Amino acid sequence: SDVPTVFTPLKIRGLTLQNRFAVSPMCMYSADDGHLTDFHLVHLGQFALRGAALTIVEATAVTPNGRITPEDSGLWQDSQIAPLKRIVDFIHSQGQKVGIQLAHAGRKASTLGPWHSRSIGEIATAEHGGWTDNLWAPSAIPWAEGFPTPKELTVAEIEGLVQSFQDAAKRSVEAGVDTIEIHGAHGYLISEFLSPLTNTRTDAYGGPLQGRAKFLIDIIKATRAVIPEDMPLLLRISATEWMEYTNQPSWDLEASKQLASTVADLGVDLLDVSSGGNNNNQKIQISPSYQIDLAGQIREHLASQGKKMLIGAVGMISNAEMAKSVVQDGKLVGTGGGGAIETTVEVDSEHGTKAKADLVLVARQFLREPEFVLKVANELGVKVRLPAQYLRAPYPKV
Ligand code: FNR
Repeated sequence: SDVPTVFTPLKIRGLTLQNRFAVSPMCMYSADDGHLTDFHLVHLGQFALRGAALTIVEATAVTPNGRITPEDSGLWQDSQIAPLKRIVDFIHSQGQKVGIQLAHAGRKASTLGPWHSRSIGEIATAEHGGWTDNLWAPSAIPWAEGFPTPKELTVAEIEGLVQSFQDAAKRSVEAGVDTIEIHGAHGYLISEFLSPLTNTRTDAYGGPLQGRAKFLIDIIKATRAVIPEDMPLLLRISATEWMEYTNQPSWDLEASKQLASTVADLGVDLLDVSSGGNNNNQKIQISPSYQIDLAGQIREHLASQGKKMLIGAVGMISNAEMAKSVVQDGKLVGTGGGGAIETTVEVDSEHGTKAKADLVLVARQFLREPEFVLKVANELGVKVRLPAQYLRAPYPKV
Protein backbone atom coordinates (compact mmCIF):
# COMPACT_ATOMS: atom_id res chain seq x y z
CA SER A 1 0.00 0.00 0.00
CA ASP A 2 0.96 3.67 -0.26
CA VAL A 3 3.43 5.12 2.17
CA PRO A 4 1.74 7.82 4.25
CA THR A 5 3.04 11.30 3.38
CA VAL A 6 4.52 11.65 6.86
CA PHE A 7 7.10 9.01 5.87
CA THR A 8 7.92 10.51 2.50
CA PRO A 9 10.96 12.79 1.97
CA LEU A 10 10.64 16.56 1.94
CA LYS A 11 12.98 18.62 -0.24
CA ILE A 12 13.50 22.24 0.76
CA ARG A 13 16.06 24.02 -1.46
CA GLY A 14 19.17 21.81 -1.27
CA LEU A 15 18.03 19.96 1.85
CA THR A 16 16.26 16.62 1.71
CA LEU A 17 14.63 15.33 4.88
CA GLN A 18 14.02 11.55 5.09
CA ASN A 19 10.54 12.04 6.52
CA ARG A 20 8.28 14.81 7.81
CA PHE A 21 9.20 14.57 11.51
CA ALA A 22 11.15 17.40 13.12
CA VAL A 23 12.13 17.78 16.75
CA SER A 24 10.76 21.18 17.76
CA PRO A 25 13.31 23.44 19.46
CA MET A 26 13.33 23.00 23.24
CA CYS A 27 15.39 24.89 25.79
CA MET A 28 17.15 22.48 28.12
CA TYR A 29 18.62 25.01 30.58
CA SER A 30 21.90 23.13 30.51
CA ALA A 31 24.34 25.37 28.64
CA ASP A 32 27.55 26.68 30.16
CA ASP A 33 27.93 30.40 29.48
CA GLY A 34 26.02 29.83 26.23
CA HIS A 35 28.07 26.78 25.22
CA LEU A 36 26.18 23.55 24.44
CA THR A 37 27.27 20.67 26.69
CA ASP A 38 27.46 16.86 26.82
CA PHE A 39 23.83 16.92 27.92
CA HIS A 40 22.82 18.47 24.60
CA LEU A 41 24.88 15.97 22.60
CA VAL A 42 23.17 12.97 24.22
CA HIS A 43 19.75 14.61 24.34
CA LEU A 44 19.71 15.79 20.70
CA GLY A 45 21.69 12.79 19.43
CA GLN A 46 19.06 10.33 20.66
CA PHE A 47 16.49 11.75 18.22
CA ALA A 48 18.83 11.38 15.25
CA LEU A 49 19.43 7.75 16.29
CA ARG A 50 15.71 7.10 16.25
CA GLY A 51 14.40 8.46 12.99
CA ALA A 52 13.76 12.19 13.42
CA ALA A 53 14.63 13.63 10.02
CA LEU A 54 15.36 17.10 11.43
CA THR A 55 16.40 18.04 14.93
CA ILE A 56 16.28 21.74 15.73
CA VAL A 57 18.63 22.96 18.45
CA GLU A 58 16.93 25.04 21.14
CA ALA A 59 16.40 28.83 21.11
CA THR A 60 19.96 30.11 20.89
CA ALA A 61 20.60 33.68 21.90
CA VAL A 62 22.38 36.09 19.57
CA THR A 63 23.47 38.33 22.47
CA PRO A 64 24.03 37.41 26.13
CA ASN A 65 21.01 39.44 27.30
CA GLY A 66 18.84 37.61 24.75
CA ARG A 67 18.85 34.41 26.80
CA ILE A 68 15.62 33.39 28.51
CA THR A 69 17.60 31.96 31.41
CA PRO A 70 21.29 32.18 32.33
CA GLU A 71 21.62 28.50 31.31
CA ASP A 72 20.40 29.02 27.72
CA SER A 73 22.58 28.40 24.70
CA GLY A 74 24.09 31.20 22.65
CA LEU A 75 26.06 31.95 19.49
CA TRP A 76 27.34 35.42 20.29
CA GLN A 77 31.00 34.38 20.33
CA ASP A 78 33.23 32.06 18.30
CA SER A 79 33.96 29.70 21.21
CA GLN A 80 30.31 28.61 21.01
CA ILE A 81 30.79 27.15 17.50
CA ALA A 82 32.80 24.03 18.44
CA PRO A 83 30.28 22.50 20.90
CA LEU A 84 27.52 23.04 18.31
CA LYS A 85 29.66 21.47 15.56
CA ARG A 86 30.18 18.37 17.71
CA ILE A 87 26.39 17.84 17.85
CA VAL A 88 25.96 18.64 14.15
CA ASP A 89 28.67 16.12 13.22
CA PHE A 90 27.06 13.38 15.31
CA ILE A 91 23.60 13.94 13.82
CA HIS A 92 25.13 13.91 10.33
CA SER A 93 26.91 10.63 11.15
CA GLN A 94 23.42 9.13 11.58
CA GLY A 95 22.33 10.35 8.17
CA GLN A 96 19.96 12.94 9.64
CA LYS A 97 19.73 16.73 9.50
CA VAL A 98 20.07 19.44 12.09
CA GLY A 99 18.87 23.01 12.42
CA ILE A 100 19.28 25.74 14.99
CA GLN A 101 16.80 28.32 16.24
CA LEU A 102 18.25 31.82 16.61
CA ALA A 103 16.55 34.04 19.14
CA HIS A 104 16.46 37.06 21.39
CA ALA A 105 14.17 36.86 24.40
CA GLY A 106 13.51 40.62 24.63
CA ARG A 107 11.55 41.61 27.73
CA LYS A 108 11.10 37.94 28.65
CA ALA A 109 14.86 37.44 29.16
CA SER A 110 16.60 36.91 32.51
CA THR A 111 14.21 34.41 34.06
CA LEU A 112 14.97 31.37 36.19
CA GLY A 113 15.14 27.86 34.70
CA PRO A 114 12.25 25.60 35.69
CA TRP A 115 13.98 23.73 38.48
CA HIS A 116 15.20 26.96 40.11
CA SER A 117 11.82 28.65 40.18
CA ARG A 118 8.36 28.33 41.69
CA SER A 119 6.55 29.49 38.55
CA ILE A 120 7.31 29.82 34.83
CA GLY A 121 8.88 33.18 34.02
CA GLU A 122 10.01 34.03 37.55
CA ILE A 123 12.74 36.68 37.20
CA ALA A 124 16.43 35.85 37.66
CA THR A 125 18.06 38.57 39.71
CA ALA A 126 21.78 39.39 39.48
CA GLU A 127 22.37 37.01 42.38
CA HIS A 128 21.19 34.18 40.10
CA GLY A 129 23.16 35.38 37.09
CA GLY A 130 20.33 37.54 35.71
CA TRP A 131 20.30 40.99 34.09
CA THR A 132 16.90 42.51 34.84
CA ASP A 133 18.41 46.01 34.51
CA ASN A 134 19.30 45.30 30.86
CA LEU A 135 16.17 43.91 29.18
CA TRP A 136 15.53 45.05 25.60
CA ALA A 137 12.17 45.60 23.93
CA PRO A 138 10.54 47.70 21.20
CA SER A 139 8.78 49.76 23.87
CA ALA A 140 9.27 50.19 27.63
CA ILE A 141 6.32 48.00 28.58
CA PRO A 142 6.85 45.30 31.24
CA TRP A 143 5.49 41.75 30.84
CA ALA A 144 3.11 42.27 33.78
CA GLU A 145 2.86 44.18 37.03
CA GLY A 146 5.81 43.46 39.28
CA PHE A 147 8.08 42.58 36.34
CA PRO A 148 11.09 44.71 35.33
CA THR A 149 10.56 47.46 32.77
CA PRO A 150 12.57 46.79 29.58
CA LYS A 151 14.60 49.48 27.83
CA GLU A 152 13.17 50.83 24.55
CA LEU A 153 15.76 50.03 21.87
CA THR A 154 17.29 52.89 19.89
CA VAL A 155 17.52 52.58 16.10
CA ALA A 156 21.29 52.06 16.40
CA GLU A 157 20.71 49.24 18.89
CA ILE A 158 18.14 47.64 16.59
CA GLU A 159 20.66 47.75 13.73
CA GLY A 160 23.25 46.24 16.05
CA LEU A 161 20.88 43.39 16.87
CA VAL A 162 20.24 42.67 13.18
CA GLN A 163 24.03 42.41 12.90
CA SER A 164 24.07 40.03 15.91
CA PHE A 165 21.52 37.78 14.18
CA GLN A 166 23.67 37.85 11.03
CA ASP A 167 26.85 37.01 12.98
CA ALA A 168 25.09 34.11 14.73
CA ALA A 169 23.84 32.86 11.34
CA LYS A 170 27.44 32.88 10.04
CA ARG A 171 28.59 30.92 13.10
CA SER A 172 25.75 28.42 12.54
CA VAL A 173 26.91 27.88 8.96
CA GLU A 174 30.48 27.45 10.19
CA ALA A 175 29.25 24.77 12.63
CA GLY A 176 27.72 22.93 9.65
CA VAL A 177 23.99 23.20 10.38
CA ASP A 178 21.59 22.30 7.55
CA THR A 179 19.07 25.01 8.28
CA ILE A 180 18.36 28.01 10.51
CA GLU A 181 15.07 28.90 12.14
CA ILE A 182 14.46 32.50 13.17
CA HIS A 183 12.42 32.64 16.39
CA GLY A 184 9.66 35.15 15.74
CA ALA A 185 7.15 33.59 18.17
CA HIS A 186 6.11 33.33 21.81
CA GLY A 187 6.48 36.95 22.91
CA TYR A 188 10.24 37.08 22.52
CA LEU A 189 11.86 40.13 20.94
CA ILE A 190 10.78 39.72 17.30
CA SER A 191 7.26 38.81 18.39
CA GLU A 192 7.21 41.87 20.71
CA PHE A 193 8.00 44.03 17.68
CA LEU A 194 5.20 42.44 15.63
CA SER A 195 2.39 43.05 18.12
CA PRO A 196 0.73 46.46 18.46
CA LEU A 197 0.24 45.67 22.16
CA THR A 198 3.97 45.54 22.84
CA ASN A 199 5.23 47.84 20.07
CA THR A 200 4.01 51.44 20.42
CA ARG A 201 6.94 52.96 18.50
CA THR A 202 6.29 55.81 16.10
CA ASP A 203 9.48 55.37 14.01
CA ALA A 204 10.17 53.06 11.05
CA TYR A 205 10.06 49.98 13.36
CA GLY A 206 6.52 50.65 14.63
CA GLY A 207 3.11 51.75 13.46
CA PRO A 208 1.45 49.73 10.68
CA LEU A 209 2.16 46.01 10.23
CA GLN A 210 4.94 46.58 7.70
CA GLY A 211 6.67 48.87 10.22
CA ARG A 212 6.29 46.45 13.13
CA ALA A 213 7.61 43.70 10.83
CA LYS A 214 10.66 45.74 9.74
CA PHE A 215 12.91 44.32 12.49
CA LEU A 216 12.02 40.77 11.39
CA ILE A 217 12.31 41.62 7.70
CA ASP A 218 15.77 43.13 8.26
CA ILE A 219 16.83 39.98 10.15
CA ILE A 220 15.53 37.72 7.35
CA LYS A 221 17.45 39.71 4.71
CA ALA A 222 20.63 39.83 6.81
CA THR A 223 20.44 36.08 7.43
CA ARG A 224 19.63 35.10 3.85
CA ALA A 225 22.62 37.23 2.75
CA VAL A 226 25.16 35.08 4.66
CA ILE A 227 23.76 31.56 4.37
CA PRO A 228 24.30 29.39 1.30
CA GLU A 229 21.76 29.80 -1.50
CA ASP A 230 20.72 26.13 -1.18
CA MET A 231 20.19 26.31 2.61
CA PRO A 232 16.57 26.60 3.68
CA LEU A 233 15.51 29.36 6.06
CA LEU A 234 12.74 28.65 8.56
CA LEU A 235 10.70 31.15 10.57
CA ARG A 236 8.59 30.41 13.66
CA ILE A 237 5.76 32.79 14.43
CA SER A 238 2.85 32.97 16.82
CA ALA A 239 -0.14 32.94 14.48
CA THR A 240 -2.16 34.80 17.13
CA GLU A 241 -1.42 36.19 20.58
CA TRP A 242 -4.91 35.10 21.71
CA MET A 243 -6.00 38.62 22.69
CA GLU A 244 -8.90 38.95 20.22
CA TYR A 245 -11.37 38.86 23.12
CA THR A 246 -10.20 42.31 24.27
CA ASN A 247 -11.33 43.88 20.96
CA GLN A 248 -8.09 45.89 20.98
CA PRO A 249 -5.82 45.68 17.94
CA SER A 250 -3.55 42.69 18.60
CA TRP A 251 -1.44 40.18 16.69
CA ASP A 252 -3.99 37.85 15.07
CA LEU A 253 -4.43 35.33 12.27
CA GLU A 254 -5.15 38.05 9.69
CA ALA A 255 -1.84 39.75 10.51
CA SER A 256 -0.07 36.40 10.30
CA LYS A 257 -1.51 35.73 6.85
CA GLN A 258 -0.25 39.10 5.65
CA LEU A 259 3.16 38.52 7.20
CA ALA A 260 3.30 35.04 5.66
CA SER A 261 2.77 36.51 2.19
CA THR A 262 5.51 39.07 2.79
CA VAL A 263 8.17 36.68 4.09
CA ALA A 264 7.39 34.11 1.39
CA ASP A 265 8.90 36.61 -1.06
CA LEU A 266 12.01 37.21 1.08
CA GLY A 267 13.46 33.73 0.95
CA VAL A 268 11.76 32.13 3.95
CA ASP A 269 11.14 28.54 2.88
CA LEU A 270 9.02 27.21 5.72
CA LEU A 271 6.78 28.95 8.23
CA ASP A 272 6.58 27.10 11.55
CA VAL A 273 3.19 28.04 12.98
CA SER A 274 2.95 28.28 16.77
CA SER A 275 0.90 30.72 18.87
CA GLY A 276 0.68 32.78 22.05
CA GLY A 277 3.27 33.81 24.60
CA ASN A 278 3.23 37.58 24.17
CA ASN A 279 0.72 38.45 26.80
CA ASN A 280 0.04 37.49 30.38
CA ASN A 281 -3.71 37.83 29.72
CA GLN A 282 -3.91 35.59 26.63
CA LYS A 283 -6.98 33.36 26.42
CA ILE A 284 -6.06 30.31 24.37
CA GLN A 285 -8.94 28.44 22.71
CA ILE A 286 -7.48 25.04 23.33
CA SER A 287 -8.31 21.84 21.48
CA PRO A 288 -5.99 19.10 20.23
CA SER A 289 -5.79 20.71 16.79
CA TYR A 290 -5.79 24.36 17.91
CA GLN A 291 -2.47 25.24 16.32
CA ILE A 292 -2.70 22.76 13.45
CA ASP A 293 -5.83 24.60 12.30
CA LEU A 294 -3.98 27.94 12.36
CA ALA A 295 -1.23 26.36 10.25
CA GLY A 296 -3.82 25.02 7.83
CA GLN A 297 -5.48 28.40 7.40
CA ILE A 298 -2.19 30.13 6.65
CA ARG A 299 -1.29 27.34 4.23
CA GLU A 300 -4.57 27.80 2.39
CA HIS A 301 -4.08 31.56 2.25
CA LEU A 302 -0.63 31.11 0.70
CA ALA A 303 -1.97 28.57 -1.80
CA SER A 304 -4.71 31.01 -2.86
CA GLN A 305 -1.98 33.53 -3.63
CA GLY A 306 0.11 30.99 -5.48
CA LYS A 307 2.97 31.28 -2.97
CA LYS A 308 5.27 28.32 -2.51
CA MET A 309 6.34 28.67 1.15
CA LEU A 310 5.97 25.42 3.11
CA ILE A 311 4.18 25.18 6.46
CA GLY A 312 5.16 23.44 9.68
CA ALA A 313 2.56 22.47 12.28
CA VAL A 314 3.32 22.09 15.99
CA GLY A 315 1.41 21.55 19.20
CA MET A 316 -0.05 18.47 20.87
CA ILE A 317 0.87 16.11 18.05
CA SER A 318 1.41 12.98 20.08
CA ASN A 319 0.16 9.90 18.26
CA ALA A 320 0.35 8.17 14.90
CA GLU A 321 -3.05 9.25 13.55
CA MET A 322 -2.42 12.91 14.31
CA ALA A 323 1.10 12.89 12.90
CA LYS A 324 -0.18 11.18 9.76
CA SER A 325 -3.26 13.33 9.18
CA VAL A 326 -1.49 16.71 9.56
CA VAL A 327 0.42 16.25 6.31
CA GLN A 328 -1.91 13.84 4.50
CA ASP A 329 -3.93 14.94 1.49
CA GLY A 330 -6.98 13.17 0.18
CA LYS A 331 -7.60 10.33 2.60
CA LEU A 332 -10.09 9.75 5.35
CA VAL A 333 -8.13 9.26 8.55
CA GLY A 334 -10.61 8.98 11.41
CA THR A 335 -9.91 10.14 14.95
CA GLY A 336 -6.79 10.92 16.87
CA GLY A 337 -6.00 12.70 20.09
CA GLY A 338 -3.38 13.80 22.58
CA GLY A 339 -3.47 12.02 25.91
CA ALA A 340 -6.93 12.32 27.44
CA ILE A 341 -8.32 14.53 24.67
CA GLU A 342 -9.93 13.20 21.52
CA THR A 343 -10.21 15.01 18.24
CA THR A 344 -11.90 14.29 14.97
CA VAL A 345 -9.94 15.04 11.85
CA GLU A 346 -11.83 17.29 9.46
CA VAL A 347 -12.93 15.54 6.31
CA ASP A 348 -13.99 17.25 3.11
CA SER A 349 -16.53 14.87 1.60
CA GLU A 350 -15.52 15.65 -1.97
CA HIS A 351 -11.76 15.74 -1.65
CA GLY A 352 -11.04 13.69 1.44
CA THR A 353 -8.74 15.21 4.03
CA LYS A 354 -6.69 18.28 3.31
CA ALA A 355 -3.12 18.50 4.58
CA LYS A 356 -2.65 21.31 7.11
CA ALA A 357 1.11 21.37 6.83
CA ASP A 358 4.19 19.92 5.14
CA LEU A 359 6.30 19.24 8.24
CA VAL A 360 5.28 17.88 11.65
CA LEU A 361 7.14 19.44 14.57
CA VAL A 362 6.93 17.57 17.86
CA ALA A 363 8.28 18.70 21.22
CA ARG A 364 7.00 17.06 24.40
CA GLN A 365 6.19 13.67 22.87
CA PHE A 366 9.86 13.34 21.93
CA LEU A 367 10.78 13.93 25.59
CA ARG A 368 8.34 11.23 26.67
CA GLU A 369 9.24 8.88 23.79
CA PRO A 370 12.52 9.54 21.94
CA GLU A 371 11.48 6.67 19.63
CA PHE A 372 8.22 8.42 18.65
CA VAL A 373 9.03 8.25 14.92
CA LEU A 374 9.79 4.52 15.10
CA LYS A 375 6.62 3.88 17.06
CA VAL A 376 4.50 5.78 14.56
CA ALA A 377 6.18 3.92 11.69
CA ASN A 378 5.40 0.61 13.35
CA GLU A 379 1.77 1.57 13.95
CA LEU A 380 1.34 2.75 10.37
CA GLY A 381 3.08 -0.34 9.02
CA VAL A 382 5.98 1.57 7.50
CA LYS A 383 9.45 0.05 7.49
CA VAL A 384 12.18 2.43 8.70
CA ARG A 385 15.87 1.84 9.08
CA LEU A 386 17.33 1.44 12.58
CA PRO A 387 20.94 2.38 13.28
CA ALA A 388 23.20 -0.52 12.25
CA GLN A 389 24.20 -0.99 15.88
CA TYR A 390 20.57 -1.69 16.86
CA LEU A 391 19.69 -4.21 14.15
CA ARG A 392 19.44 -7.16 16.53
CA ALA A 393 16.42 -5.56 18.18
CA PRO A 394 13.85 -4.94 15.46
CA TYR A 395 10.60 -3.32 16.56
CA PRO A 396 7.91 -5.91 17.32
CA LYS A 397 5.08 -5.72 14.77
CA VAL A 398 1.79 -4.24 16.04
C1 FNR B 1 9.55 24.52 24.36
N1 FNR B 1 9.15 25.27 23.27
C2 FNR B 1 10.07 26.07 22.61
N2 FNR B 1 9.72 26.71 21.47
C3 FNR B 1 10.62 27.41 20.76
O1 FNR B 1 10.27 27.98 19.73
N3 FNR B 1 11.92 27.50 21.21
C4 FNR B 1 12.34 26.90 22.34
O2 FNR B 1 13.53 26.96 22.68
C5 FNR B 1 11.38 26.20 23.11
N4 FNR B 1 11.71 25.60 24.31
C6 FNR B 1 10.85 24.70 24.89
C7 FNR B 1 11.27 23.92 25.97
C8 FNR B 1 10.44 22.93 26.50
C9 FNR B 1 10.93 22.08 27.63
C10 FNR B 1 9.14 22.75 25.96
C11 FNR B 1 8.21 21.69 26.50
C12 FNR B 1 8.71 23.54 24.92
C13 FNR B 1 7.85 25.01 22.61
C14 FNR B 1 7.91 23.75 21.75
O3 FNR B 1 8.87 23.88 20.71
C15 FNR B 1 6.55 23.45 21.12
O4 FNR B 1 6.20 24.48 20.25
C16 FNR B 1 5.45 23.27 22.16
O5 FNR B 1 5.91 22.50 23.26
C17 FNR B 1 4.21 22.61 21.59
O6 FNR B 1 4.52 21.37 21.01
P1 FNR B 1 4.27 19.96 21.77
O7 FNR B 1 5.09 19.94 23.01
O8 FNR B 1 2.80 19.92 22.11
O9 FNR B 1 4.66 18.91 20.77
